[in-house]
Amino acid sequence: MKGIILAGGNATRLRPCTEITSKQLLPVYNRPMIYYPLNTLIKAGIEDILIIVAPDYAEKFLHLLGSGEKFGIKISYKVQETPRGLADAFIIGDGFIGNDNVTMILGDNIFEDDLSEHIKNFTGGGKVFAKKVSDPERFGVVRFDESMKADTIIEKPSEWISDYALTGVYIFDSRVIEVARSVKPSARGEIEIVDLHNWYLEQNELEVAMITGAWLDAGTFDSYLEAQILAKEKLQDKMVI
Ligand code: DAU
Repeated sequence: MKGIILAGGNATRLRPCTEITSKQLLPVYNRPMIYYPLNTLIKAGIEDILIIVAPDYAEKFLHLLGSGEKFGIKISYKVQETPRGLADAFIIGDGFIGNDNVTMILGDNIFEDDLSEHIKNFTGGGKVFAKKVSDPERFGVVRFDESMKADTIIEKPSEWISDYALTGVYIFDSRVIEVARSVKPSARGEIEIVDLHNWYLEQNELEVAMITGAWLDAGTFDSYLEAQILAKEKLQDKMVI
């Protein structure tokens, strides 16, 4: 299993704080934000991690995390020139992934749950993680049928379909590279991660697991504040880095 942390983007919603640095380097209580998704991958036993960064701050990530040796893992880096969409992570990471399975996590997503068993027991297809939220319009959303099988997945639906948001951690087999290459940009000009989910759903190979603990996407000032509180109150004893 390889790991990818997608830590690029412009973070316009956190301006002016992100005028001079990357969102994923901002402190969340006592650690830089990226430590939290990195911790999730390291705890699951992933030892080979690619970090995808925006051009302006590449050297800062290198300065902070280095080769990964201090965490007992190997870290490599790639630059995403423009934020083309989340699915781009698998195109940028194609050579890194090779024929392996891959867990991709967003650099601003913070999980209380330990995802180790899901990651270690993954054998193929796709696995994504849902959580009930009060503001599903902010996220990719999954609707379930009566037997709780996923039947529809839509990015930021304009009309309500379900309260289950898809969180920013994704496990795929290496077919994801070719699927990502085939995705056409959406109306907002991005190659959308939900198009990958829908491909696996069509093959009947997408599993949707539930997140039971706290989960936050620290992309707005309010969720960033919540992330600091979560980190202080619930995550300190879960950190291995
Ligand atoms: O947080 C979970 C949500 O993340 C999912 O529910 C959605 O399905 C998924 O599309 C994504 O939605 P967001 O609107 O939060 O995506 P955003 O554009 O904010 O990007 C998420 C992170 O990824 C952000 O920290 C910046 C980084 N990013 C984003 C893009 C589009 C990149 O590094 N490169 C990119 O090309």
